[in-house]
Amino acid sequence: MKDLSPRPGDLDPIETASRDELRALQTRRLHRTIRHAYDNVAHYRAAFDAAGAHPDDVKTLDDLALLPFTTKEDLRRNYPFGMFAVPREEVVRIHASSGTTGRPTVVGYTRGDLDTWADVVARSIRAAGGRRGMILHNAYGYGLFTGGLGAHAGAERLGCTVVPVSGGMTERQVQLIQDFRPQIIMVTPSYLLALIDELERQGVDPRSTSLEVGIFGAEPWTNDMRREIEERLDLHAVDIYGLSEVIGPGVASECVETKDGLHVWEDHFYPEVIDPITGRVLPDGEEGELVFTSLTKQAMPIVRYRTRDLTRLLPGTARSMRRIEKITGRTDDMIILRGVNLFPTQIEELILGLAPLSPHFQCVLDRSGHLDSMTVRVEHRDAVRPGNAGDELARRIKNRIGVSVRVEVVEPGGIERSVGKMRRIVDHRPAR
Ligand code: DLL
Repeated sequence: MKDLSPRPGDLDPIETASRDELRALQTRRLHRTIRHAYDNVAHYRAAFDAAGAHPDDVKTLDDLALLPFTTKEDLRRNYPFGMFAVPREEVVRIHASSGTTGRPTVVGYTRGDLDTWADVVARSIRAAGGRRGMILHNAYGYGLFTGGLGAHAGAERLGCTVVPVSGGMTERQVQLIQDFRPQIIMVTPSYLLALIDELERQGVDPRSTSLEVGIFGAEPWTNDMRREIEERLDLHAVDIYGLSEVIGPGVASECVETKDGLHVWEDHFYPEVIDPITGRVLPDGEEGELVFTSLTKQAMPIVRYRTRDLTRLLPGTARSMRRIEKITGRTDDMIILRGVNLFPTQIEELILGLAPLSPHFQCVLDRSGHLDSMTVRVEHRDAVRPGNAGDELARRIKNRIGVSVRVEVVEPGGIERSVGKMRRIVDHRPAR
């Protein structure tokens, strides 16, 4: 793999600023954001008032803890435009999250917000090793989902040649990769696996493509998956994180020279980690739920938004900004099986430790009587006999996670492919 580390002068000055400089900037921006939210969004005014908090009480970054959290429910209650802090005419773009349960969550951007967003995505692509002039194949979905257009604007801002493919039409994607010879690909890790399979089906050695960097996000993926992808494609696999409510992709990103977790672009998004049950702010290093406050957004400032994503905050390494560890999962993706908590990422790690098994898998939940059960459905690799890999996986899950599951090893192609975010959990249990 090529050395794609940044050269002196490549980075924005704030990326290497001291913690004190960064905190001073964050504090200034926080004051402005809290004021803007309180003065212009009825929801924030009511929520702060109800909590007995006033923008003037927030003097330091730690005072943020005086303010109430914002949840997805709050956004839903204010559907569609109730969270906007500027006249609707100043909102030049709308995105929305899929809304698998209930109403979608709507987010809006001013022209200034789109600029900020392009900047942070450009910074993320550069952190991953991307440079001006490189060709970038963008297979994140275009549309209401923030992935496609978010990545697109950032790549243009950096000066890449963008190929706006979106998700789907897998055969054609592979053809375009062969013909245009991009150095960078942006796509969900699960759809990337489908692209690798298609390369192989067309008789192309995946290690022979022009790709040097892959920027993967929108869903959890493990370090074991990174090894699998880097080995199969001979490229740098780098993580990008974000969520619509905060801006979209580009809230945090990994640096190619360290690949040790994702640097939060803290000059725009202030992170906290809280105990998901008590709401108490946890010290850096402890695992809990990630919470964000936007520091520069105009159309839809967001204060202490509970992401439901689980991780911990770590000190900066390649940049001064703090890092988050790879996301373990979402509080609402946690499977509680006969009293044991587990995440699909833990299953992914164990599957990737067994050579005959492929990374295509799903966790299927059923209930008979009062008893929940889980079946891990996993494909074996093409042209590899699975032998007793299924039994071995069940044994490892029992040993490492502490719960008995059924494992069903299926033929290659037996698990549905996603073109965007993969549905890892199929829940057949009736609602209690
Ligand atoms: O998924 C934004 C995005 C697009 C990020 C493309 C990266 C690349 P939403 O659809 O609002 O936005 O979903 C946000 O996806 O709260 C996490 O649960 C999950 N997620 C996003 N990135 C990662 C990641 C986009 N790198 C939700 N690792 C978030 C783990 C991720 N989970």
